[in-house]
Amino acid sequence: MNQVRQDGGANGAHGATSGMPLKKVVLASNNAGKLREFAALLGAAGIELIAQGELNVPEAEEPHPTFVENALTKARHAAKLTGLPALADDSGLCVRALRGAPGVYSARFAQLVGGEKSDAANNARLVDELRGVSDRRGYYYCVLALVRHADDPEPLIAEGRWHGEILDAPRGEHGFGYDPYFYLPSLNASAAELEPAVKNASSHRAIALRQLLARLSEEA
Ligand code: IMP
Repeated sequence: MNQVRQDGGANGAHGATSGMPLKKVVLASNNAGKLREFAALLGAAGIELIAQGELNVPEAEEPHPTFVENALTKARHAAKLTGLPALADDSGLCVRALRGAPGVYSARFAQLVGGEKSDAANNARLVDELRGVSDRRGYYYCVLALVRHADDPEPLIAEGRWHGEILDAPRGEHGFGYDPYFYLPSLNASAAELEPAVKNASSHRAIALRQLLARLSEEA
């Protein structure tokens, strides 16, 4: 246990394995919040989730311009090093008036213009870029990629969008990232004003995960 594999994993399997039951899956993230969120929903489907950090898998690079490529890269990386099926997500905030920015660069939005890599700096840039802009529409986007082994030719891909509006002043203390500035008109609250359980049940990640689970049960 706790050993990283270097042999390509999954018993050297390279073919399509759609329909193969999944019992244990490595999560290609070390984010404890995501692990809790995903483990709860996957556990109900009989799937045990292990964080990649527990298996000594280092974080993968996220070099691609699309969410789906980054999610697949992270999933393949974890599957290759552990020999287990792997689940990865990639997500970000897409703002219509900014033509989809910060998008795939959400985590380093301020860094791209010489700022620091922090939520505060990212939010400051977001507010700045939207000053005087009346179209406040945006959404959080999440892609999930599940590979049964590193070379799985039929990865399961699911996506979720959570639509809202960008505020010009922060509201709420929960959540992370852009949540204090992300307003949900239907809930009359920012994402940071929602109880974590409420956010976790309605977020872009929850929508994508439910789609993934539906695909898995169709396959079974
Ligand atoms: P990652 O998918 O964990 O790499 O997230 C990328 C970035 O998107 C995060 O650093 C946040 O800036 C932003 N982001 C993704 N999901 C959320 C969310 O649920 N709330 C706030 N920010 C988010």
